[in-house]
Amino acid sequence: MNKRRLLVASVLSGLALTSMGAMAQTDTFKIGLILPMTGPFASTGKQIEAAARLYMAQNGSTVAGKKVELIVKDDTSAPDVTKRIAQELVVNDKVSVLAGFGLTPLALATAPIATQSKTPLVVMAAATSSITEASPFIVRTSFTLPQAAVAMADWAASNQIKKVVTLVSDYGPGIDAEKYFKDRLLLNGGQVLDTLRVPMRNPDFAPFLQKVRDLKPDAVYVFVPSGIGAPLMKQFAERGLDKAGIKLIGTGDITDDDILNGMGDVANGVVTAHHYSASHNSPLNKKFVEAFGKANNGLRPNFMAVGGYDGMRVIYEAAKATKGAGGQALLDAMKGQIFESPRGPMFIDAQTRDVVHNIYIRKVEKVNGQLYNQEFATIKDVKDPGKAK
Ligand code: DHB
Repeated sequence: MNKRRLLVASVLSGLALTSMGAMAQTDTFKIGLILPMTGPFASTGKQIEAAARLYMAQNGSTVAGKKVELIVKDDTSAPDVTKRIAQELVVNDKVSVLAGFGLTPLALATAPIATQSKTPLVVMAAATSSITEASPFIVRTSFTLPQAAVAMADWAASNQIKKVVTLVSDYGPGIDAEKYFKDRLLLNGGQVLDTLRVPMRNPDFAPFLQKVRDLKPDAVYVFVPSGIGAPLMKQFAERGLDKAGIKLIGTGDITDDDILNGMGDVANGVVTAHHYSASHNSPLNKKFVEAFGKANNGLRPNFMAVGGYDGMRVIYEAAKATKGAGGQALLDAMKGQIFESPRGPMFIDAQTRDVVHNIYIRKVEKVNGQLYNQEFATIKDVKDPGKAK
């Protein structure tokens, strides 16, 4: 009898705990933001966290009557750490959304957690085309390398750049950049003299740049991840490639707004293709850049920040539409969102869950003594060419 009473009591208290847990859960809407906050890719984490906090400061910390809780975790850019943190956030913290993902391997490692737990995963940074195919719960607000690569190959071919050497970081986005640039340049009647790949971590660019110099192309086409471009620029000048008449072109990752101004004169005149420049000429972007700087000691937002800011927009609006419900409903409410971003118009393709936006051709110029990527041509509403198979 006593035993039985004990059992009933413990079942009841168990129930109480569960319903308390459920109540706590329904009062808050949790977003698990996993980013590299330390190590060589820390600038990606810093930019995205700052943008997410700015979005919350501007749009309130309640959504659908629930308090939004942003849980920021440092994955040190190690895929096994990202995956473990994601698992803990889903199981222990019961987050409604996983977000962030500073590099392709980090997003790919975590995709199975999103699928198994039916948790929407918003990729705010990583940009290899195939990422959205790794889980039906992945939505992307950053960009894809093929979008930027194809645009650059078209511009090069129509601007007397016929012979090119490609130089990319040897992993997902670099391989996408190389393939889509090369295929498109060949289609446009150009030539790729060599395809060079440098290690993703701690690369020594010197021997590769020497090779480029020896091959004497019209241009070297470059992809390196955000934050890594400065030493490459420096060595490009030190090895005299600019003096030898070799142009440097690439995706906008190389003239990343986070570090562009510190690159000095070698960056001046570099032409790239990308979806975001801090100098994008729109009232919304001016407001964004100003508010971001004000909240972060004058820091200039880069394309990582805009991916984070827009990712928060997608999450907030989806949560409003589902009144805070998560899972499949939340994912469905992310699909097809169309809005104006600081980058310009964008939408989330409902079929592919990938971002569609303008790609701009930009040239680095001095504006009031500061280096900026000045947009001078627009290719509208670019879908990921990697999905058009
Ligand atoms: C990726 C990382 C970057 O820093 C970048 O600029 C582009 C792509 C990536 O790992 O997907």
